[in-house]
Amino acid sequence: MDAPSPESETPHRRRPRYSGKNPRRFEDKYKELNPESHAETVSKVRASGKTPAGQHVPIMLREIVELCALTAGQRVVDCTLGYGGHASALLQAVQPGGSLLGLDQDPLEIQRTEQRLRKADLPAEAFLVRRTNFAGLRRAMEESGWSDGADAILADLGVSSMQIDNPARGFSFKHDGPLDMRMNPQRGLSARELLRKISADKLSALLAENADERQAPLLSRALSGQDHATTRSLATAIRAVLPARMVEEDIDSTVRRVFQALRIAVNEEFNALETLLRQIPECLRSGGRVVFLTFHSGEDRRVKQAFRDGVRNGIYSATNEEVLRASSQEVRDNPRASSAKLRWAVRS
Ligand SMILES: C[S@@+](CC[C@H](N)C(=O)[O-])C[C@H]1O[C@@H](n2cnc3c(N)ncnc32)[C@H](O)[C@@H]1O
Repeated sequence: MDAPSPESETPHRRRPRYSGKNPRRFEDKYKELNPESHAETVSKVRASGKTPAGQHVPIMLREIVELCALTAGQRVVDCTLGYGGHASALLQAVQPGGSLLGLDQDPLEIQRTEQRLRKADLPAEAFLVRRTNFAGLRRAMEESGWSDGADAILADLGVSSMQIDNPARGFSFKHDGPLDMRMNPQRGLSARELLRKISADKLSALLAENADERQAPLLSRALSGQDHATTRSLATAIRAVLPARMVEEDIDSTVRRVFQALRIAVNEEFNALETLLRQIPECLRSGGRVVFLTFHSGEDRRVKQAFRDGVRNGIYSATNEEVLRASSQEVRDNPRASSAKLRWAVRS
């Protein structure tokens, strides 16, 4: 028998099959998912105002770096490491000699981000990473030897583009996937399980509290106790309940709000945020800055209240009266920046 040729030992990998010029499904976007080998494709996607698959474009980056006002040798915590866009810039701002502690509860993305950021030419001790909920900020800092505080703390709330764009994570109704929505899939109930178990009254309260949903009673009667295995199945069920007179745009917004409300509940986002806001003052050095990016009213309300109370009680020396927004140019370049609101405070 002939010896196998080298080609037959390492079979040629076919390009994924998809119809049309450009891939539409997340898993077919193999060029975007391998940016090191396909920089040109990634730049084209960015130039068209889209986020390349598997990446996250940091929002209000310049403003955040300026507001953190860091200098060489200082310490900064990024509570929401994500793709590491903000973290890379903040890490640079504290060089030489400074360090960044990055937290994230997502066990899947945090590994990729750590690998990517470690490639930068920095000493290992400059970049510390902990997979944890940011509700455990104080503990994470103690365990990192940072009990005497940080000079700046950043929290860029919500989900990353890597999470929302990946159908397998079950956050999006635009692509079909398992109805999961957990940032940490190793913990808690998935959105599917939550919907199956929840009563109509509780679901109604959750939709009103987490997304100001006006159709909450109607939707909760129809959806509570139902079993939806996929995001599309849930989106179809929501659409079926809504009054026939509603226009398509409003229907889409309702589906988006229901998904947002469920995501907040599944990840217990408000509990985590309130715990983080309580811990920040003791985690910041005097004169240290805290910056938050929020993406809906439930988040912004809590941050605004905590900072204003802090100024009144003398914990913070200043906060912004008017919320800061991304520039119109940034929103054109990255439409995901359109709903971002920035608030900052300075520790007394
Ligand atoms: C908007 S993204 C951050 C993007 C990041 N600033 C960047 O430049 O790539 C939010 C990240 O925070 C994480 N996250 C959200 N809530 C969290 C929590 N309570 N504890 C820890 N991480 C959280 C998510 O898993 C996600 O990776």
